[in-house]
Amino acid sequence: MEKLWAGRFTKELDKIAFGFNSSIDVDSRMYRQDITGSVAHAKMLVKQGIIDKSEGDVIIDGLNSILEDIDSGKLEISQEAEDIHSFVEAELTARVGDAGKRLHTARSRNDQVAVDLRLYLRDEAIEVVGLIKALVEAICQQADKNRDTIMPGYTHLQRAQPISFAHHILAYAMMLIRDVGRIEDAVKRMNLSPLGSCALSGTTYNTDRECTARLLDFDGYTLNSIDGVSDRDFCVELQSALSLIMTHLSRLSEEIILWSSWEFKFVELDDSYTTGSSIMPQKKNPDMAELVRGKTGRVYGNLMSTLTMLKGIPLAYNKDMQEDKEAIFDSLDTVKVCLQVTAPMIETMTVLKENTLAAANKGFINATDLADYLTKKGMPFREAYKITGQIVRFCIENALVLDNMPLDEYKKFSDMFENDLYDEINLFTCVKKRISQGGTGPESVDKQIEFVKQFIK
Ligand code: ARG
Repeated sequence: MEKLWAGRFTKELDKIAFGFNSSIDVDSRMYRQDITGSVAHAKMLVKQGIIDKSEGDVIIDGLNSILEDIDSGKLEISQEAEDIHSFVEAELTARVGDAGKRLHTARSRNDQVAVDLRLYLRDEAIEVVGLIKALVEAICQQADKNRDTIMPGYTHLQRAQPISFAHHILAYAMMLIRDVGRIEDAVKRMNLSPLGSCALSGTTYNTDRECTARLLDFDGYTLNSIDGVSDRDFCVELQSALSLIMTHLSRLSEEIILWSSWEFKFVELDDSYTTGSSIMPQKKNPDMAELVRGKTGRVYGNLMSTLTMLKGIPLAYNKDMQEDKEAIFDSLDTVKVCLQVTAPMIETMTVLKENTLAAANKGFINATDLADYLTKKGMPFREAYKITGQIVRFCIENALVLDNMPLDEYKKFSDMFENDLYDEINLFTCVKKRISQGGTGPESVDKQIEFVKQFIK
């Protein structure tokens, strides 16, 4: 295939150099955006009288037929082409002849690739948002089913205070809802058209960038042509949002892995989302969650690659920038499949309520409530805290827990203790009593579920 830029050269590009330089294996997935961008450009060229209407029609029909044929599988994208832009233009010229050669008037591959990438990422971002919503929905269903499931809440991975499973899992819904906000925010800044910036400085033709921006559903066009072709901030922003999604998925995965261990046994994963061992017949491994946790690093790595690629390049376009796509595409592919596997894994997971309750019953996690009991009877909190600590020590030394230590023993620590203390430190009461806004109490959990349901809608 003849190079777009063949005129100035007398020798062919070296074979290895050609392969090194080419990006078709990565950017061919933007064929739809490349063609859509070209159709808009052609329409604008006709409107501005830069090319004839008849030629414009031929170009547009040719481009549409290429799109149709790639979609249907009739036309294969040749890996011999340097990139998707060269491929489409060469195919167009092969189909419609000379008119095809006019398409690139008042345009460069520099603004072309920038517009293709923005269009592509905009669509992908919307898809990611849909997948996040599906996961949030699965989380919300589990929360709904587990409003009354008591489990230990942890700090330092030490049993801390009793909470409902619903409250715990809803924390992830909050993270993911913020993730959607970050993606939508990134899309807002991404959604400006660089098309018409040309190589770097604009063009001598009387183009109408407002028109192409409108045809491509952008909110407007980039105001500085140099920035238009050299900006990849939108890749960084999206990748950073994707990285944070992976942080959240990885933390969730880590908990799923812990919870499905024999040591915890808080949840049982569905067979469809676990694997066995080739040697140990008893094993049921949480591979999906482990892989999500494991793949987080590559998404962070892609963000670092892009930031590093950008930090040293002078304005405007440099070939370094071709590296942007492999990184962001890999991050998108990774995040999408991780969301696709996590949502049904959460949805089909069984929470083992007896086990979460039993774990909560063992660890003095109602000690704060016992201190609060004394405080509410008038004792200063610091004093109540100290006495409760002594009671806990006494219990440990005498193989007791707070719930079964006899009242006469309690009385030895303070005469404020009465029979009603047992109800006050009952785990279900402890959770119910946490009436503070955003706490684990039922009213707050209902409010969270309502908020999440509104978000899904
Ligand atoms: N394949 C190139 C890229 O992804 C397209 C732009 C090429 N521009 C250029 N001046 N060589 O960045």
